[in-house]
Amino acid sequence: MVVESDIFKVMHQRRSIRKFTSKNISKEDFEKILKAGFRAPFAAQLCSLVYTSDKEKMKEIKGIGIYPTTKILMFFLVDLDRMEKIMKLRGHEYNTDDMMTLWLGIQDVTLVIENVILAADALGMGSVLLGVAPQRADILSEVFNIPKRVFPVVGLCLGYPDPNEETEIRPRYPLKHSAFEDSYRELDEAELKECMKEMDEGYITQGYYIKNKAKIPLPEGQKDDIDYDKYSWSEHISRKMIKWPGKREPLIDIIRRHGFRIE
Ligand SMILES: Cc1cc2nc3c(=O)[nH]c(=O)nc-3n(C[C@H](O)[C@H](O)[C@H](O)COP(=O)(O)O)c2cc1C
Repeated sequence: MVVESDIFKVMHQRRSIRKFTSKNISKEDFEKILKAGFRAPFAAQLCSLVYTSDKEKMKEIKGIGIYPTTKILMFFLVDLDRMEKIMKLRGHEYNTDDMMTLWLGIQDVTLVIENVILAADALGMGSVLLGVAPQRADILSEVFNIPKRVFPVVGLCLGYPDPNEETEIRPRYPLKHSAFEDSYRELDEAELKECMKEMDEGYITQGYYIKNKAKIPLPEGQKDDIDYDKYSWSEHISRKMIKWPGKREPLIDIIRRHGFRIE
C-alpha cells in the first residue's frame, strides 16, 4: 500500500532520465506500470499506446530523438478509431467536432502518461518524454501499424536510471506566479523577471546547457551575443518558439492526413 508521503516523495524527486542501465524491465513491473497508467481519470477513454523493446524497431523511428539506452519505448495515442467502432456497435454514427474530440483525447492521454511516469519512478525506473512524436506521425503509423484516426501525442523512453549519469531536479516558476486564487493575474515585468530568474539561475547553476552543448542557433542573419555563461532556460525556450514556425510541416496538415476532420 503506497502511503501519501511516498507519492509526494516520488513526485518531488522525479526528473527526466536520458541514460539507462542494461537492466531489463520485467513483464510484471511493466504491466504494473501500464495498469497504473490506465487508472487515470478519463473523459472518454481515448488513450491507447504502442510500445516496443525491439532495438531494430527503435532504429526505424528516425528524427524523434530516442535515447539509445532506452529499454522500452512507448507512444501515447489519441484513439478515435476504437471510439467510433464502439459507437457503431451501439448503432450510433460519430458526428461530433473532431477538434473537440482530439482535445478530449489529449486530456485523456496526458493523464495516463503522468500516471505511467510516476508509477515507473515508484518502481525505481526513470523516463523521459519525446515531444516530436506528432510531427513524426507518418513514420510511427508505418512502424506500429497505427490506423487513421489514431494519432501520437508524445513518446516515452523508459528504463532504470544509469547511476553514473548526473541528473538534477530542474527548477520551476515560483508557485505564486503559476497558481492564482479567485482570479487570474497577468504578471507584471518584475514578476516575469522573477520567473525567468528562478529558471535561468537554476539551469546555469546546474550547467545544463553548457554540459549538453544545447544552444539553439538564432535564425540566419541574427547576431548571437549570448554565451553559455548567460544562455539559460528562458532564452532556450524562446529560441525554440522562434525556430519552429515555417521549418516544419504545420501540425494541422499532419493531423488531417491522419484522418481527422479539422476545419
Ligand atoms: C510534452 C513534453 C515533451 C518533451 N520532449 C522531450 C524531448 O523530446 N527530449 C527530451 O530530452 N526531453 C523532453 N522533455 C522533457 C523536458 O525537457 C523536461 O521534462 C523538462 O526539461 C523538465 O525537466 P524534468 O523533467 O527533469 O523536471 C519533454 C517534456 C514534455 C512534458
